[in-house]
Amino acid sequence: MNDIKIAFIGGGNMSSCIYDSIIKNYDAKNVTVSGPHLEKLEKFKAHGSLITTDNVKTVEDAQVIFLGVKPQILTSVLEEIKNSKISLDGKLFISMAAGYKLSSIYAKLETHNLIRIMPNTPAKLGLGVIAVSYDSAVTDSEKDLCKKMLSHMGECIEGDEQSLNVIGAICGCGPAFVYRFMESLISEALRNGIAPNDARKMVEQTVFGSASMVIKNQDTSIAALREAVTSKGGTTFAGLCKMTEGNFEQIMQNTIQASLDRTYEFEKMF
Ligand SMILES: NC(=O)c1ccc[n+]([C@@H]2O[C@H](COP(=O)([O-])OP(=O)(O)OC[C@H]3O[C@@H](n4cnc5c(N)ncnc54)[C@H](OP(=O)(O)O)[C@@H]3O)[C@@H](O)[C@H]2O)c1
Repeated sequence: MNDIKIAFIGGGNMSSCIYDSIIKNYDAKNVTVSGPHLEKLEKFKAHGSLITTDNVKTVEDAQVIFLGVKPQILTSVLEEIKNSKISLDGKLFISMAAGYKLSSIYAKLETHNLIRIMPNTPAKLGLGVIAVSYDSAVTDSEKDLCKKMLSHMGECIEGDEQSLNVIGAICGCGPAFVYRFMESLISEALRNGIAPNDARKMVEQTVFGSASMVIKNQDTSIAALREAVTSKGGTTFAGLCKMTEGNFEQIMQNTIQASLDRTYEFEKMF
């Protein structure tokens, strides 16, 4: 199984992240990466992988093919593969394209041996969430293979395509929402006279420490952790009251809904 031939169509940011996970378990010599600019693929060659500009030959020689191009390029790549008339029997396609449904890939390739994944950027550190959704022909051993390939990127969460969209909105977009929250805490630290280096450090450590408290106290609800730092009439209580007055929950609901609505708009485009 470790001799399996793996291909990446497109060797950009997310393909690189998946590649780094794969070569921890699989021989880089069995991986081929194709893209229009060979000079941008040198890092894969340095690991011993093949690089090429020939997408069709790359697909033809592989058993597992990661589709790593931008969604707006994917249609032309799928047509290129289909029009080449190579046999797709026994090949497993794994698409990471946001908003590009399994049924839209099927419409081009006419194979149900398809998996959609939606990783988030912390996957680069092995701390990601990867939503995974399978089409009808994917076998249990192919599901296990896919999860093994992604295992060094973080936690895989399997579900239908609707849950993949929701995970995409919460975990894919989520880092930006967390960064925005951190930026606003840093702004407040600066506005109140803290030095820039200290402001960043203290906010980093507060978010990291709080997330660690949640992770290391699985038997305690997050609400209970919040209550443990909130005495009635105290300083945290005063701050939380302002969040309630400012409709924090409603803002988050609107935020996630806006990301989901945009996902549905993208789905209609492909
Ligand atoms: N980045 C993320 O955080 C993230 C998260 C979840 C999902 N995704 C999905 O991952 C996919 C790739 O995103 P990315 O951020 O990795 O983009 P990216 O860094 O721009 O990578 C896209 C790659 O596709 C290559 N490419 C362009 N046209 C091609 C063609 N005709 N044939 C083969 N390769 C071609 C590009 O090569 P050149 O640079 O040489 O043009 C580039 O290496 C997207 O579908 C995106 O929705 C990304």
